[in-house]
Parts: sequence; structure tokens; C-alpha cells
Amino acid sequence: MEIIQVSNYEEMSKRAAEFLLKKIEQNPSLALGLATGSTPKGLYEQLILDRKEHGTSYEHVTTINLDEYIGLPASNPNSYHSFMKENLFRHLDIPLSNSYLPNGEAADLQKECTRYESIIDEKGIDVQVLGIGQNGHIGFNEPGTSFNQTTHITTLAQSTRQANARFFQSIEEVPKQAITMGIASIMKSSEILLLASGAKKAEAVHQLLSGEISEDFPASVLHHHPHVTIIADDGALSIVT
Ligand code: GLP
Repeated sequence: MEIIQVSNYEEMSKRAAEFLLKKIEQNPSLALGLATGSTPKGLYEQLILDRKEHGTSYEHVTTINLDEYIGLPASNPNSYHSFMKENLFRHLDIPLSNSYLPNGEAADLQKECTRYESIIDEKGIDVQVLGIGQNGHIGFNEPGTSFNQTTHITTLAQSTRQANARFFQSIEEVPKQAITMGIASIMKSSEILLLASGAKKAEAVHQLLSGEISEDFPASVLHHHPHVTIIADDGALSIVT
């Protein structure tokens, strides 16, 4: 695990963008695993800025997102389909046919999980971007999720719904379930880039870096992965000794 410490959110976003742009330069057909949430937003802003300034093309890039809420139409502003479209896809030249997110409205959700896992297997993710939940979740893999899980339907922890309620009118509106890549799906990617910013993530980052591996703390599985880079800012690293 390589840890890159930066001073703040902006620096984290810039370093992460440099990291990914280098990968795209080396491999214009990169398969990129993407995340939602506040953490990668600044990274996406940097990629958009780079596109404007340097014209980096994503024509041959494939993107595969971690998760999607169940029951929110893709058109709902809080769906991860909308998040990705607004915050990244519509600003790049990436063909929409190359961008994958789980379909949280599928009539047969179980079948959708199987379909999504086969996309992951077929495309093979080169670099997976991850944020981290305050309880150590990655994607929507909540504490207690088996490390052997592939894409599945998950019930969100109440603390996760609370943390995400800031995007909704009220906590009642936050979906209770989601489809998420499983821990085993995430572990299939060749490389992982985990981002963490701010004091709210300090406990989780501290726990992650303690080195203890347990299904009660999903991100700890990353210690089993051969190629992980963490870019974290001073706030997120504030209680790491
Ligand atoms: C969300 C997402 C995760 C994300 C995490 C942290 O619920 N499913 O993919 O990494 O929680 O979110 P944020 O970056 O907003 O703190």
C-alpha cells in the first residue's frame, strides 16, 4: 500500500487526476472503475479542466461504476446515474455505450447483479477509484459483508443513510437498498486508488492503516490487494501516528 499525503481536498483531487491521466496516457483504452460521493467530485472537476485545457480524449476509455441505489429512477437527481452524468460524463467525449452503472430499476435485480459482474469480468478493471465510508464501507459494502461477495443487493447501514441524507430532502427519501460491486469484484481490479479527505474520515483511515483485516471493516480487505495507492489529506490522516 502506497500512501501519498497531501495538504487538502484540492491537492488530493489534483494528485488523483494526475494519477489517472498518466494511466490514460499510457493506455487510452483504460477500463476505469469509478465512484460517487463528495470525495471524487474534485477529481472529476480536475479531469474536466484537463479536458478543456489539454483535450485529453476518453473516446476509448470504459468506465464501470461501483454502485447504484435501488428504486431511484436513473433520471432522479440523486441517482448515481445522474451524479455521473452531471459531474463527469457530459463534460467528456466518453461514448455513453462505454459507461456502465448497475441498473437499480431492473425488474429482476438478482439477474442484474449477475449481468453486472459479467461486465466487470469481460472488461477487466485496470484502475478502481474508491472513497471510504465513515464505517469503512467501500462501494456499498457495509461492515459484515463477506470478502467473497461479488455484485449483490445490499441493505444500507442506517449510518450510511444518515451520511448520504445531505443530498436528499430528508432521510426518509434515502433508498434503503443498493446494488453494489462486491468486495470480490473490487479486488479483481488490477490497481486501486483510494481517496480520503477531511477529519470526518480520520477514524476510518486510522482503522484502515492499523493493518487489522476484518469483514467488520470492509476497506481492510485492501491489505490483501497487491497494488493499492491511497491519496489522503492532512485531515484524513490527522489521527494516524
Ligand atoms: C457512499 C458511496 C461510496 C463512497 C462513500 C463515501 O455511500 N456508496 O462509494 O465512497 O459513501 O462518500 P463520500 O465521498 O461522500 O464521503
